[in-house]
Parts: sequence; structure tokens; C-alpha cells
Amino acid sequence: MSKEPTILSIETSLDDTCAAVTRGTRVLSNIVSSQTRYHEEWGGTVPDIAKRLHKEWLPKVVALALKSAGNPNLSAIAVTIGPGLAPSLEQGIDFGKNLAISRKLPIIAVNHLEGHLLAPYAKTRRGTRGLTNPVYPALGFLISGGHTELVLMRGIGEYKLLGGTLDDAAGEAYDKVARMLLLGYPGGPILAEMAKSGKPIYRLPEPMTNRKDLNFSFSGLKTAARHFLERDLPADEEGKPALTKEFIQDFAASFQDAVFRHLMKRFRLAIELHSPHMILLGGGVVSNVALRKLARQTAKECALDVHIPYSKKLFTDNAAMIGVTASFKFARAEFTDPRSLDRLPNLNFPKSSAPL
Ligand code: KG4
Ligand code: ZN
Repeated sequence: MSKEPTILSIETSLDDTCAAVTRGTRVLSNIVSSQTRYHEEWGGTVPDIAKRLHKEWLPKVVALALKSAGNPNLSAIAVTIGPGLAPSLEQGIDFGKNLAISRKLPIIAVNHLEGHLLAPYAKTRRGTRGLTNPVYPALGFLISGGHTELVLMRGIGEYKLLGGTLDDAAGEAYDKVARMLLLGYPGGPILAEMAKSGKPIYRLPEPMTNRKDLNFSFSGLKTAARHFLERDLPADEEGKPALTKEFIQDFAASFQDAVFRHLMKRFRLAIELHSPHMILLGGGVVSNVALRKLARQTAKECALDVHIPYSKKLFTDNAAMIGVTASFKFARAEFTDPRSLDRLPNLNFPKSSAPL
């Protein structure tokens, strides 16, 4: 077996059917088949539809990932075991388990959150991009549709959760406010696009200004946005509430401004309290260019480098980040008995084996 394991990984935690092949931390293929259009009309992920589509699509998506990677000999199979939607996770786990048994390969169970955190370690097929010289301790900031977490990292597998959201995640708040503005599903990226042309002229409260800790909360801001839209929406010429493009742009910018202030205040505080040597950013909300700019600015003021995944596909849910995480587990021989492999929908951030 070569020093660098070649791993087929499967990720089906929500509504993207994903498979990838990685060699060490290099990405040989990364297939993401989005189910969005099937869930769109319901305004959210429907578990039964997600389950059926994962089952139907997995054989094709896995075959494509293997083919795009040149059908290499595999060293192991990796699967996401949680957190996520139970019926979705189940499909990926079953498929991975059966494949591992039939091909007599070891199986590696991966936490989706660790996958997002380690996505900046992913390198291109030729190894040209991606994080090469990590310096620890690192501060990881994971901002996605399901999580908003600050993690202190002393090395791979040595994590301490510093803070997380007390209610909604940042991406979830984007999606919900986008829905109030009738921007479609998932509306987060559309809202962010609208915000680019708007001015933050509406007063929406920055969350938790009276608390100086590393936790987040977005439900108050979401409620304030709803109240504003119900009560204070400017009227059109006929006196009816006007959801004009200009209003949506300014409202989106105002909402985003409050989200960014909240995120950046905690980010800066985490840097001050824990003096990291580098920053890792991951999760779907990191697709937001304005947010990345702010994070880089904050980190620069503290003389810190910010590392993000080398491609946009690695920010949102994908299987390559699962493969990269699995490669580190492979090196530590962290394999799971296929018979005890199970979905863990409420899985938290992996705890460190030694206290940090
Ligand atoms: O990481 P991800 O693909 O899924 C989870 O694990 O949750 O993140 C998806 C989230 C969605 O809530 C989506 O609205 C948000 O990321 N998102 C954005 C942007 N692009 C995606 N939020 C703000 N600005 C964006 N440009
Ligand atoms: Zn995710």
C-alpha cells in the first residue's frame, strides 16, 4: 500500500449526493449532485425525497467519482456519519458499508464538521494549491447552514470547541430572511448577491452585544427582520408595503451588516483570548466574498494568515473534505468495524483525546 492512501469518500448528510476520490490530501475527483430543485417547491429539505434521491443517485455519483479519478486501486472507504438528517446519512453509510465489505476495504467514519474544518488542507490533483505549512494552535471558524462554531486546534484531531450558536446557524438565518424577502430557496447566496448593491440603512440589531463570550445567536435578528417587514416596510405609491428591488438590496445589506458585526466581534475576541498562529475558514457562508474580506482584514490586524479551501466547491457540502479528513485518520489507523457503523444525526464537534 502506498504511503498516501487513495480513499473513496461518500457524503450524504443533507440534500447533496456527493462522492470523491482523494490521495492523501490531494483531490482526484469531487462530484456533487445537488437535489435542490427537488426540494425547492417545499421551501426546505424533505427527508423522504432526500433519502429516495440519495439511494437512486449514489451508484451513479460514486461510479463517476471513480471514473474521473482514473479508477485507481482504493486503500479505504470513508463515509460521513453525522451530524445531519438521519434518513440521508443512512443512505451514504449503507452504500459505503456494502462497498467496503464487497471490496474488502477498511472503512473510516468521518464527522461532517471536522470535514468542513479541514477543507483548507485539500490540495489540487497536482498538489499545487491548499494549505502546506500549518502552524498551531490554529483557530478554526466554521460558518455553514447548520453550524456557526469557533474551534481551537492544537493539531489534526486535537480540538476544543470555543463557542457555537445557541439557536440558528448563520447560513440558516440567511436562508430564512431570504425567504421572508421571497428570494427563493436556498436564498442565502441570493440575499448575499442583493446585499452587494445595497446600503445598510435599516436598523437591525447586532445580536448579543451585552455578552462577551464566544457564542452566537441569530434567532433574535431573524425575528427583528420579520417584525420590521411586518410593521415598517416602506409603502408604495398606493400605500401598500413595497418589496422593491431597491428595498430588498438595502434590507439585505442591513441584515448582512448585523450578521458580520456579530461574527467578527466573536472572531476577534477568540483571537485575543487564544493567540492562534493561523486561521482556518470553512462552511458554505464562507462563499461570501465580503465576509472573507472582513475576516482577512481582522486577521491581518493581528498579523495572522487566513487559510480557506482552494475552490468554492470545497466550501459547501462535498465529499473531498471527508476524504481529506479520512486521510489523517488513515494515518492513525482509525478504522471502524462496518457492523458498528451507524448514523449520528446530532453528532457534535469531535473532542480531543487529551485536554487542550
Ligand atoms: O456548508 P453548507 O453547504 O451546508 C451545511 O453544512 O450547512 O452551507 C450552506 C449554507 C446555506 O445556508 C447557504 O445559504 C449559505 O451556506 N451560503 C451563503 C452564501 N453561499 C452559501 N451565505 C451567505 N453568503 C453566501 N454567499
Ligand atoms: Zn456542511
